[in-house]
Amino acid sequence: MLSMSKSTANQADEPHDLERRVNALLAEMTLAEKIGQMSQRHAGDGQAEVLHDELRAGRVGSVLNVVDVDVINELQRIAVEESRLGIPLMVGRDVIHGFKTIMPIPLGQAASWNPEIVRAGARIAALEASTAGINWTFAPMIDISRDARWGRIAESLGEDAFLASQLGAAMVKGFQGEDLSALGSIAACAKHFAGYGAAESGRDYATTNIPENEMRNVYLRPFKAAIDAGVTTLMTSFSEIDGVPATASEFLLRQVLRDEWAFDGFVISDWDSVRQLKIHGLTASDRESAHEAAIAGVDMEMAGDAYAAHLAALVEDGEVSEETIDHAVANILRAKFRLGLFEKSFANPEELPPIASDDALATARKAALQSVVLLKNDDRVLPLSTEDLSNVAVVGPLADAPYEQLGTWIFDGDASLSITPIQAIRSLVGEQVDVRYLRALANSRDKSTESFDEAVEIALDSDAVVLFLGEESILSGEAHSRADISLPGAQAELVQRIRETGKPVIAVILAGRPLTLTNIVDEVDAILFAWHPGTMGGPAIADLLFGVESPSGKLPATFPRMVGQIPIYYNQKNTGKPPSPDSVVLIDDIDPHAPQLSTGMTAYHLDAGYTPLFAFGHGLSYTDFQYRNIGVDSPEIGMGETITISAELVNAGEVAAEEVVQLYIRDLAGNVTRPVRELKGFKRIRLEPGKTAKVEFDLHTDELAFYGRNMRLVTEPGEFHAWIGGSSDTQLRTEFRISD
Ligand code: BGC
Repeated sequence: MLSMSKSTANQADEPHDLERRVNALLAEMTLAEKIGQMSQRHAGDGQAEVLHDELRAGRVGSVLNVVDVDVINELQRIAVEESRLGIPLMVGRDVIHGFKTIMPIPLGQAASWNPEIVRAGARIAALEASTAGINWTFAPMIDISRDARWGRIAESLGEDAFLASQLGAAMVKGFQGEDLSALGSIAACAKHFAGYGAAESGRDYATTNIPENEMRNVYLRPFKAAIDAGVTTLMTSFSEIDGVPATASEFLLRQVLRDEWAFDGFVISDWDSVRQLKIHGLTASDRESAHEAAIAGVDMEMAGDAYAAHLAALVEDGEVSEETIDHAVANILRAKFRLGLFEKSFANPEELPPIASDDALATARKAALQSVVLLKNDDRVLPLSTEDLSNVAVVGPLADAPYEQLGTWIFDGDASLSITPIQAIRSLVGEQVDVRYLRALANSRDKSTESFDEAVEIALDSDAVVLFLGEESILSGEAHSRADISLPGAQAELVQRIRETGKPVIAVILAGRPLTLTNIVDEVDAILFAWHPGTMGGPAIADLLFGVESPSGKLPATFPRMVGQIPIYYNQKNTGKPPSPDSVVLIDDIDPHAPQLSTGMTAYHLDAGYTPLFAFGHGLSYTDFQYRNIGVDSPEIGMGETITISAELVNAGEVAAEEVVQLYIRDLAGNVTRPVRELKGFKRIRLEPGKTAKVEFDLHTDELAFYGRNMRLVTEPGEFHAWIGGSSDTQLRTEFRISD
C-alpha cells in the first residue's frame, strides 16, 4: 500500500467530474458520517484507541498535531480501509515558516518583497511536511497588522494589503504547487478570517473594531487574493467584529465569502473557537454555539466537540437544515478530492527529497539574506572589511542562540540545523580577523549588568563591535504581545556602555516585530534588522556584515518612534488637518512665554511629531541607488485602460546590489476618502555599479478600484498622483488622470 505510485491522472481535475464524485459520495453518507467529516480531532496526546474507534465509525474528518509518518499512515489506513465509506483524512499542522528547515518568520519574509523566494520557501516547507504525511498547513497568515505590540505580527506579512496579497498568494502557490494532488503539495489555509490583526492595543484575542468599508478596503483584500490563487481552506479568527465573533459571522462567511467571492473550498474554525462563542457571551450553551457556527458557515470545527455533540440533534430538531450540513460536507470532500487523497492516501518519505536538502538550506539562506533590512549606516561603517580589520568584538545574547533565531511557530523546527551568526562570522573571516565573542546577557530579557565591564574591555581591544540584540523567540507569537516594544532587559544599557568606548558600533537586531529603537538609534553607527532569520540566519548575516552581499530588505511595517504612535502605518488618511514640517512644534520647543500659540493645530503628537522612526518600505543598500525621470506614457487614460508609469533607477555607488523599486499612488478625491499613499507595485532589480535601468509599472484602472459608501468595488475617474522610489516616503512624483 505504501508504495502506491503517485496519482498521475487525477480524475478530480475536471470540474463536472469533481462535483459528480462529491455528490455521489455525499448521497451515500449518513448524517452521523457527514457530521464526522465536519469534525477535526487533536491527535497529539495519546488516546489512540478512542481515536481509532472514532475513525472506524466515520466520526472524524481530519486530525491535527500528529507528525509521525507511521502514526499518520496508520490513521489513514483505518479511515480508508476500516470505515464504511473509506474517506481519507485531512492531516493538519501549523507549518508556518518551514517544517524542519526554517525560513525567516513571515514578517521577515515579507521584508524581502520577493514573491518568488516566499513561494520557494513554502514549497520547501510543503515537501518536508509531506514526508511526515501532513497534507494541510494552517498558513499563510495574512492578517493585516498596524500594531507591533501584537505578538502575532511576527507571523503576518505586515501592514499593507497589497504586499500581503502578493506574498500571501505566493505562499499559497508554494504550499499547493501547480497541482494540489501532486507529490509534495499540501493544502494551504488562509487565516484568520478576518480582522484578527486589529486587536485593540495589540493584545492578542482582544476585540477588534473595523468599520465595513475599512474591512473591505484593507483587511479582506489579502483573503480575496489567496482565493484567487486557489487556496483550499480558510480559518476563522478568534476575534469579534462589531459584536459578532468571526466564527459566527454570516456577513464574512456567507455574504462575502460564498455569495460575493464564490469560494468553494472549506472553512475551519480556529482552535475551539466554536465553543468559545459561549465564552465571548454570544451564546448560552455549546449547542447554541454549534448552531451559530454552522448557520454562519463554519464547515469544520477545530479541536472542540460542539459539532460532534450537538449538530445531529440540531438537524433532527429542524434548527439546522440538512442542506446546510450537505453544503459544508461537500466543501470538505471537494478539498479531499482535489488533494488526490482518494487516489493516494499514504505518505512515503522515500519518494520525497531529504529533510534539510541542499536546496532547502540554499532557499533558507537566500530568504534570510533578502529579508535583512539595513536601517542606518552612518559614514558607511558597513560593510566591514576583512582587509582592514584585525579584530572584531561580537557581543550580545543573540549571536549564538540556535533556537532563538528560528522565531515563533516552529513546532517541528530543528534548532540543530541552525547556523548561528558567530559560527558563520568565524567561518567567513577564518584566520584573517580575530573574533572575540561575549554573550554579555544570558538572554534578551536579562537585567544583569555583571558582564558589561568585560564587554567593554573586549570592545576597547577591538577595531569594531558587532552587537547581537533583540528579542528571543518567546517574546512574539500567539498570546505573546508586549505593551512596551523597546529592547528588553539591560540591552539598551549595554549599547550605551559600548558606545562610550568610542569604537564603531554595529547593531544586528533579531526580533519578531518592529521595535521602538529611539533610545539606541543614535548610539550605534549601523543597524541591520534581521527579524528572526531562521535556520540559515547566521551565514546570511555574516555575508551582509562583510559585504559579500549588499542588504536589500525593505520594511513591511512602519517602525514607530514611541509606542504611543501606534497604530502607525504609511497608508493613513490625510485628515482635515494634515501635519507638515512647518505646522509642528514639539514639546521642548513650546515657547514658555506664549504657550497657547505654540502648536500648529494639525494631526501630530507633541512629543513624537508625526513621522515614524523608519518608514514602511525603507531599507538602505551598500551602493547608492538614485531615482530620476518619473513619467507616464499618457497623462490621461480612459476607464478600462492601462497606464504605464516609469522611472529610472541608477546605481550611482560602487557595488552591484538589489533594490526593491516601489510604486505608490494617491487618488485625490473619492466617494470615501482615500489613503495619502497606496502601494500598487514593486519590483526587485539587480543593478551593476554605474548602470541605469528604466523601471516600468503597468496599472490597469481596475487596480485602482476601492469600496465606496455603497460597498461596491469601483474605480472612480479623476486625478491621481504616483510616486516611484525606494520607500514609502519617496518624493519623486508624477500625475495622471482617469477620464469619465
Ligand atoms: C491559532 C491558529 C492555529 C491553531 C492550531 C490557534 O491557537 O490561532 O493560527 O492554526 O491554533 O494550532
